[in-house]
Amino acid sequence: MKEEIKVLISEEEIREKVQEIAAQINRDYEGKEVFLLCILKGSVYFTCELSKYLTIPVKMGFLSVSSYGDGLTSSGVVRINQDEEINVKGKHVIVIEDIVDSGRTLSFLMHMLAKREPESLRLCSFLDKPAGRVSEVTPDYTGFTIPDKFVVGFGMDYAQKYRNLPYIGELNFKEGEE
Ligand code: IMP
Ligand code: MG
Repeated sequence: MKEEIKVLISEEEIREKVQEIAAQINRDYEGKEVFLLCILKGSVYFTCELSKYLTIPVKMGFLSVSSYGDGLTSSGVVRINQDEEINVKGKHVIVIEDIVDSGRTLSFLMHMLAKREPESLRLCSFLDKPAGRVSEVTPDYTGFTIPDKFVVGFGMDYAQKYRNLPYIGELNFKEGEE
C-alpha cells in the first residue's frame, strides 16, 4: 500500500492559529505564571511553537502517556510514564495536546491531575476530532476542529513517521507499490 498525504492545514495557517491561541492565553493568564504540560510525543511541536508567543512567565513539563489497545483503537487503559512531571500542586496548569480523538487519554489524565490540587487546570488541543469521542472531554482552547480523518505532521505520526512535516496532512492508503 502506498501512503499518500494531502495538505489539510498549511504551515502558514498553523502559525496564524498558534499565535491566536497564544494571544488568548496571554490575556486569560495576565499576571500569572503558567505550567505547560506537554503530552509526548505528538504535542512537542505545538508546545514549542505556542511557548514562543507567550509573554507571561512559562514553565514546562513533559509527560509520556500510553493507552493500550489492538493497535487501531485505544483501550482506555492508560499508563503514565513519568511521575516526576506531575507535581502540579498550586500551579496554573495548561495541558497541551496535539489532537483529541476518543478523549480516553485526556479524560483519564485530566481527572488524575485535578486530584493533585493545581491552582487551575485547562486543556489546550491543537486539533479536535469530535466524531471519535467516547469519553467526555472538551478542550478549553482548540486550534481547528477537523472531520474524522487520520492526520500527520506538526508532531503527529503514523507508525512514528511524518512528525516533522511542517504542515498537517491527511493520510490515505492507495493500492500500489510502497
Ligand atoms: P484519544 O483521544 O485518547 O483517542 O487519543 C488521542 C491521541 O491519539 C492523540 O494524542 C494522538 O497521539 C493520537 N491520535 C488520534 N488521532 C490521530 C490522528 O489522526 N493522527 C495521529 N495521531 C492521532
Ligand atoms: Mg498524543
